[in-house]
Amino acid sequence: MVNSYHTHICYSSISKLMKHTQQTQNLLIDRFDRRVDYVRLSITDRCDLRCLYCMSEKMTFLPREQILTLEEIHFIASAFVALGVNKLRVTGGEPLIRQGVISLLSNLAVLPGLNELVMTTNATHLEEMAEAIHAAGVKRINISLDTLNPDRFRKITRVGDFQRVMRGINAAGRQGFKKIKINAVILKNRNHDEVCDLVNFAIDKGFDISFIEEMPLGMIDAHDRAEAYYSSDKILDDLKSQFNLLHSTESTGGPSVYHQVVGTHTNVGFISPHSHNFCSTCNRVRLTVEGKLLLCLGNEHSVDLKKVIRANPGDFDLLKQTIISSLEIKPEKHEFELTEKPVILRHMSATGG
Ligand code: GTP
Ligand code: 5AD
Ligand code: SF4
Repeated sequence: MVNSYHTHICYSSISKLMKHTQQTQNLLIDRFDRRVDYVRLSITDRCDLRCLYCMSEKMTFLPREQILTLEEIHFIASAFVALGVNKLRVTGGEPLIRQGVISLLSNLAVLPGLNELVMTTNATHLEEMAEAIHAAGVKRINISLDTLNPDRFRKITRVGDFQRVMRGINAAGRQGFKKIKINAVILKNRNHDEVCDLVNFAIDKGFDISFIEEMPLGMIDAHDRAEAYYSSDKILDDLKSQFNLLHSTESTGGPSVYHQVVGTHTNVGFISPHSHNFCSTCNRVRLTVEGKLLLCLGNEHSVDLKKVIRANPGDFDLLKQTIISSLEIKPEKHEFELTEKPVILRHMSATGG
């Protein structure tokens, strides 16, 4: 199946298809009048870390034949861009462990009509790859880092090497990315006492930082999510004891609400799916590495794009039409309830963090 696809589609034939596309307007508008201009592409469900809030200790990953090839990912991304999407984020699992990721990035970066190619990573491979990622045309990167304490880092990630991640972060810092943002998931009694230190770290490096409320995606065994909940408002109060924060209207097109740390180049963002729902302004959809188009992070609504492209190799118009129709089932809002069992059985690593 995968091979027959390869014979029909390659990176250069996709470029030709794109040249014939008259991109005049964004065609991706849902029932609630929300315009989708941002697609998150998960290019692997695998990861070299095992963060407590993201995975259970023993995970089963997808077999190779079930995942999209890099050419298929590029083909689908091209269709989105042809339909008016202007921002692509490559994510995972951990995207940098997928073989061929740099050539995929280079081929995505040149899609006509794309404004921004960005990426989310855990930094374990940035030491050796930051330069190539920047050279491939990635503008901004988001790096997951929840603690500055090496022992805690090992506990939260189960297997991570803190010093390696620091070397990766420093390597990224030297590349001249337009912006680097730290993402920190804050859990009560695990790392909530580090929010000021994390902001100071970001200021010191000239990065932005976003604090994320944990979302109940997939069953995890490490903690009770309701008990570990630490709200964005509490974090904001904690930060105000040390920093002068000015509410900012700046948006990166993501769900973060930002505050500028006065006198620095750092913005502090809050991603608050529980305390400040942002679904009404949702501008994104996700492609899983299994080829499912997820219309919402917090719902099961999806469309199987892999099936469509493998049954109709090279049919760009059909793919675009399928994507346009998919928007009809984009739900109004997510269904997260911390005190109940997760209704979303996918882990974040399979969803695209
Ligand atoms: P930028 O604003 O471009 O920096 O990106 P972003 O915040 O969209 O991307 P990032 O990868 O940094 O996302 C951080 C986290 O925000 C994700 O891992 C999710 O936890 C959360 N998030 C992103 N999009 C959504 C969404 O549509 N719904 C919900 N509930 N959470 C989201
Ligand atoms: N809730 C919130 N954020 C999560 N991430 C992974 N799992 C969860 C979860 N259950 C975050 C990671 C990373 C991003 C890709 O997703 O910390 O920053
Ligand atoms: Fe890996 Fe990111 Fe999940 Fe951590 S949060 S296990 S780094 S995919």
